[in-house]
Amino acid sequence: MAQSLVKKIGVSLEINGEQRQVEIRPADTLLYVLRNYLGLTGAKPGCLNGDCGACSVIVNEKVYKSCIMLAVEAVESKVTSIEGLSDSPIQKAFVEHFAFQCGYCTPGFIMNTHAMLLHEPHPTYETIKEWLSSNICRCTSYQEIEDAVFSVIGRDK
Ligand code: FES
Ligand code: FES
Repeated sequence: MAQSLVKKIGVSLEINGEQRQVEIRPADTLLYVLRNYLGLTGAKPGCLNGDCGACSVIVNEKVYKSCIMLAVEAVESKVTSIEGLSDSPIQKAFVEHFAFQCGYCTPGFIMNTHAMLLHEPHPTYETIKEWLSSNICRCTSYQEIEDAVFSVIGRDK
């Protein structure tokens, strides 16, 4: 069997409040490490180019596209993935408002909405539109996604 020439390094990552020890290659992205080494497959590989937001996670309360962030950059940070938001009212709102079709983009939209509300608990419609514009839904569920976000903040458009 061919052996990788790249030496792995041991790092400790705080994911969803838990310290995880993992051997990674220096060039591994955070998305790759979450999915392939830690079994956290909620963040999705979409464009792998920083455009679609399917891979969004929160690092120290800021939303990042984990496909363009190295895992080593997350050492000594607090990482939250969609698995860490399993009881989130945002998740419930997306279900109740049918804010998905295939669901591939949904974890990213939920992470992004969570990050927005951490920074701005009472966002205007313009603010919501601006935040949501960093994520892409190929099934065109945008109307329902907006409805879900408005229901979380307890307001109509
Ligand atoms: S997969 Fe990361 S932004 Fe698209
Ligand atoms: S629900 Fe399919 S990409 Fe958004």
